[in-house]
Amino acid sequence: MKKFAFSKIGQKLTSSIIRELLKDVNVPGMISFGGGVPDPKTFPRYKLSEVAKDVLENEFAFSLQYGPTEGDDVLKEAYINFLKRNDNIEGLTKDNLLITVGSQSALYLLSTILLDSESKYFVSKPVYLGAASAFSMNSMNHIDLPLSEDGIDTDLLEEKLLELDKKGEISKVRFIYVIPNFHNPAGVTLNLERRKKIIELAEKYDLLIIEDDPYGDLRYEGEGFPSLFKMAGKNRVLLLRTFSKVLSPGMRLGFVIGHEILIRKLVMAKQAVDLCSPSLTQRIAGRFLEKYDLKELLKPTIEIYRKKKDLMLEELERNFADMEGVHWTRPQGGLFIWLTLPEGYDTMEMMASGKKNGVLFIPGSAFSIGGGCDNSMRLSFCLPSEENIIEGVKRLKKTVVEYGKEKGLL
Ligand SMILES: Cc1ncc(COP(=O)(O)O)c(C=O)c1O
Repeated sequence: MKKFAFSKIGQKLTSSIIRELLKDVNVPGMISFGGGVPDPKTFPRYKLSEVAKDVLENEFAFSLQYGPTEGDDVLKEAYINFLKRNDNIEGLTKDNLLITVGSQSALYLLSTILLDSESKYFVSKPVYLGAASAFSMNSMNHIDLPLSEDGIDTDLLEEKLLELDKKGEISKVRFIYVIPNFHNPAGVTLNLERRKKIIELAEKYDLLIIEDDPYGDLRYEGEGFPSLFKMAGKNRVLLLRTFSKVLSPGMRLGFVIGHEILIRKLVMAKQAVDLCSPSLTQRIAGRFLEKYDLKELLKPTIEIYRKKKDLMLEELERNFADMEGVHWTRPQGGLFIWLTLPEGYDTMEMMASGKKNGVLFIPGSAFSIGGGCDNSMRLSFCLPSEENIIEGVKRLKKTVVEYGKEKGLL
């Protein structure tokens, strides 16, 4: 086979388990709890197509042209208004905003401008795989913070920071990465007390917080908490938002909201990556936001997901309540449930029999940078139909029981 010489980063790159797994999504009869893919029924396609026609015909000089690296002013303005109305975030100017190709590219750009090979950063365990991939391009020195129903362990964060400070290594810490609402993959939400604690520690050690919040607008029940950005401001927090889960992932639009110095640096990095985000989808989204109330449009989407989430929780209860040591998270929003089996179960190994039984899930170890989470799995309830959720959880139980018997665990 032909060999090519790759850079160190190139050599480190391996194919993502999620992508590999998604290859089997289209096998006939397969039920997938795998990808965090929105239900296409929720895309406002007719409204978008109307706006798109207008933008293409009447604003072609902008929408079919290269655009500014920072992003389209029309969309920026509309998004600043959106943040003011829905998140009570005031005082932003266009210089506090960068529009990226989804949040994923924002994570990559942040990794580029913030991390050297010796830099350290805090992430949750389990971690969002996309963030782990972006950060580990430049530094493998992640410090893991276990998650509970209330978010990352802030006592451990305090302990680790104290330790690093004593060793004189605090300047190596570049950021604390948090997914505050309906965590991917765990489904949990950072409570108010822990939000305050993270901010207090970040103030104490002069650290940046990266707040990655794709799911906050998908709340199905209960009261939300203010964003860390709202609580601590742009000197302390960089907020990442995206349209992927609330409008359309195909439009590939993400937002970085933060201090103008950070935004300017990200803009310079972005110029080397893609020059600018697509003018066409930015202008469509901008005009769409001017014309429609996105929060209002999300109400039926929230209804669809709430029903699916409730159904999945009911089915998990029905099928797994009799199995000792099995537990799962109960998200109030977002797209994911994290299910943990007793010690000894290896969900990566279980994937093959899951596929044979016609059900896909993502093994927990895919969300762990340095190993671990072997007995957990991520279940996404947003895409399968209600009847497939019922059938899929049955198949999952069958898979778990078969594996348990085979390994002498049951
Ligand atoms: C926590 C988190 N951050 C970022 C992303 C990337 O989203 P996108 O690039 O589609 O905006 C995702 C997608 O699933 C996510 O769950």
